[in-house]
Amino acid sequence: MEVDRRAFIASLGGVAAVNLMDHEAKAEALEHYMEDKLDEMIAAQQPADKFPTVAEIEAQIETRPFRRGVGSVFTSNKGNVKIIEKMPDKPTLHDFFRLRFAPANHVLQSATRALKTGMSEEVVLACLLHDCVLSLIKPDHGWWGAQLFEPYIPEKSAFAIRYHQTLRFYADDDAGYEYPDQYYRIFGHDYQPPQYIADTYKMLKNHKWYMEPRLVTVNDLYAFDPNAKVSIEPFEDIIGRHFKQPKEGLGYDNSPSAHMWRTLARPDNPL
Ligand SMILES: [Fe+2]
Ligand SMILES: [Fe+2]
Repeated sequence: MEVDRRAFIASLGGVAAVNLMDHEAKAEALEHYMEDKLDEMIAAQQPADKFPTVAEIEAQIETRPFRRGVGSVFTSNKGNVKIIEKMPDKPTLHDFFRLRFAPANHVLQSATRALKTGMSEEVVLACLLHDCVLSLIKPDHGWWGAQLFEPYIPEKSAFAIRYHQTLRFYADDDAGYEYPDQYYRIFGHDYQPPQYIADTYKMLKNHKWYMEPRLVTVNDLYAFDPNAKVSIEPFEDIIGRHFKQPKEGLGYDNSPSAHMWRTLARPDNPL
């Protein structure tokens, strides 16, 4: 596969950002980039009926040494996992972005789009955090993600994170949200969301905060944008205003989700 050097460097936040990366990180970033590109190329070539069926996807379960729902910090796409950098004693949200949610391109791109399109600060924050929990676990990531961040962020942002998972399965033409092609590929073209998701959607349709999670789906980017330059910098003010960083550090403040942060901090603990 040919790699567009300029687009690749831009995807990592530009030359300055790339210069800060060690050799290993660069190699890994390139691997991710090529995987994303390949996924896109395959998706672009597949008419809807060429996407796999639910049964075909299920048949792949026993071809892997891990389950699809495992958090990205806990597995490696290829070969063995690497030594992971230790978190500082009193970790902040920034430390987690740098050391456990990285490269975080997807959430940074979503939040950048939300910022550019003039969304509320609660929605921008929700976009910035909406998929971070995928480092820990993938199934039901809306609920897990909301729980992880809930003690530290506005109620509306947590609501948006919790329910974007449901709304992404339902198109909303007025809001400008289409069912993503990517879901035909990863869930199967004949996939039907389970009953609890259908029930949650029904509840959300009449909820006064429907637009909060809807806007997360609208800003969710399913296609890789090679020209996007992303960094956490434009969000410093919003984080400062709306993220209640505990002085003891995330994981050590006895909040209801402190254990989740500690698990992310020490993924090599055997128990
Ligand atoms: Fe998501
Ligand atoms: Fe997302």
